[in-house]
Amino acid sequence: MTPLSGKVAVITGATSGIGEAAARRLGESGVRLVITGRDEDLLSDLSRETGAEWIADDITDPGLPQRLLEKALQVYQRCDILVNNAGQIVRGRVEDIDIGRVCQMVRVNVEAVFRAAYTFLRHFREQNAGDLVNISSVMGEKVRETIGAYAGTKWAVEALSESLRMELSRTDVRVTCIQPGLVTTRLHRDWEVHPSDMMVIPVPLTPDDIAAQIIHVLGQPSHVRIPKLMILPGGHVI
Ligand SMILES: NC(=O)c1ccc[n+]([C@@H]2O[C@H](COP(=O)([O-])OP(=O)(O)OC[C@H]3O[C@@H](n4cnc5c(N)ncnc54)[C@H](OP(=O)(O)O)[C@@H]3O)[C@@H](O)[C@H]2O)c1
Repeated sequence: MTPLSGKVAVITGATSGIGEAAARRLGESGVRLVITGRDEDLLSDLSRETGAEWIADDITDPGLPQRLLEKALQVYQRCDILVNNAGQIVRGRVEDIDIGRVCQMVRVNVEAVFRAAYTFLRHFREQNAGDLVNISSVMGEKVRETIGAYAGTKWAVEALSESLRMELSRTDVRVTCIQPGLVTTRLHRDWEVHPSDMMVIPVPLTPDDIAAQIIHVLGQPSHVRIPKLMILPGGHVI
């Protein structure tokens, strides 16, 4: 038994990286899961491993958050946690950044994250308990050249989270922003990484490093709140 045994979590962006690692860690902690992403094969594989229920869809579908909540309530009769994780990164210089992809990223990183946050918080507010864990970024409070649009999406998530935390501070509903530094995931697969970014970090973070911190946040007694948690790899000068 762990402090999380028997709870029910919905995880977005669970087909790879941080979301996938979170599903494994939460599953091992006795949490029952509903996972989502677009890749049906990956969801089905992870479901076999963790016993998770899943819905394959684009996170920008406006009806998806409600369907995820209903799936949790229908299968498990409860829902305690949302790991609001699905995200994309688009970066580039003024002269060549793909503006269409930037706007698509805003839909995923801001619109879909806000919609899921409000949908699940209404349920948590009604039951006066629940954890919203938004996966922000170290770029949620810093900026660098060429990454301003991505950073802007994460600043938006931070602003919403801080306001929600204040609004809900007298209830047992908790809101946390996790702020990872560089993590080796698929997120960077078509990112023209500045080689120096990777090379100056001797040991980059792994998705499991972040999943372990999600477990840490969720495992706190109900009077303990962790509004923000920044996690950096050693050597990350930022
Ligand atoms: N990696 C890092 O260095 C880093 C640092 C700070 C913060 N973060 C944040 O961590 C979160 C997870 O990223 P990651 O690094 O784990 O990246 P990842 O391995 O690329 O995972 C991203 C997840 O988001 C899902 N996703 C993306 N677009 C989607 C869409 N339109 N509809 C549904 N699902 C979608 C992907 O699922 P499908 O492809 O199956 O749809 C995938 O499961 C993101 O919010 C990211 O901004 C990452």
